[in-house]
Amino acid sequence: MIDLTGKNILITGASSGIGRETAILAGNLGAVVTVTGRNKNRLDETFQRLKGKNNLQFVADLSEEKNIVELTGHLPEFDGIVHCAGITSPMPVKFIREKHLQEVFKINYFASVLLTGSLLSKGKIKNASSIIFVSSVSTQLPYFGGTAYIASKAATESYCKTLAFELAPQKIRVNCISPGLVRTAVYEEMRTGYGDEKMEEYEKKYPLGFGKPADVANAVVFLLSDASGWITGTIINLDGGLLLGR
Ligand SMILES: NC(=O)c1ccc[n+]([C@@H]2O[C@H](COP(=O)([O-])OP(=O)(O)OC[C@H]3O[C@@H](n4cnc5c(N)ncnc54)[C@H](OP(=O)(O)O)[C@@H]3O)[C@@H](O)[C@H]2O)c1
Repeated sequence: MIDLTGKNILITGASSGIGRETAILAGNLGAVVTVTGRNKNRLDETFQRLKGKNNLQFVADLSEEKNIVELTGHLPEFDGIVHCAGITSPMPVKFIREKHLQEVFKINYFASVLLTGSLLSKGKIKNASSIIFVSSVSTQLPYFGGTAYIASKAATESYCKTLAFELAPQKIRVNCISPGLVRTAVYEEMRTGYGDEKMEEYEKKYPLGFGKPADVANAVVFLLSDASGWITGTIINLDGGLLLGR
């Protein structure tokens, strides 16, 4: 039984997909949840579905350091942080300019570091907390056009291990979840580009099929809970068996 009663949890990227599902599940398991996202209406939809009292919501673009610093000033102390906010933005390397690299890195990697750094500097991450970053299985299985995205996720995985090391004295645990393709807006974008037939063909590479947001949320709440109290610095693949066929 996963129980998050009494835990105060921050979830970024909660206006959509994996972040939304995780926020709702964490609330159902007893957590007080603070959600952030850019789109006010979609964030509010998530907020309305949260159980319990004292939940909070903040609209913020986390790709800018000043927004992160302002946001963390308004936030309470946390027992858990889940950084789901991210973009994929695929682009073949011959079209890549610095602006593209900046855009992807700012939210996928810089925000991971700056958000946790700012919360730590303000004393808002309690001892024995759990921090989770959402990476991607693509760091182990690259795809065409993934230059910026894959590098940003690989950087986040390295950060996860560094931070796990730095924060172990405070018993703060830091882990990554690395999903394969999950049916969110990211999947829908791919489906629009490739069409149903190609997606069905691609799904055959996944022995258990593509993932659902709940598949990721279930793993995240385990990492948020005391049941995972001896797990830190790990990268957990959630890929429906994709890597078996590597
Ligand atoms: N779905 C997959 O197949 C898959 C696989 C591996 C890893 N992942 C990772 O899982 C995480 C969640 O992805 P998802 O599939 O749930 O995607 P999604 O449905 O597109 O959700 C992305 C979330 O990130 C937020 N976001 C994006 N840029 C932001 C910014 N600059 N500032 C603040 N928030 C921002 C979005 O907010 P708004 O909508 O409000 O703009 C949204 O809430 C991402 O890090 C992604 O890389 C996804």
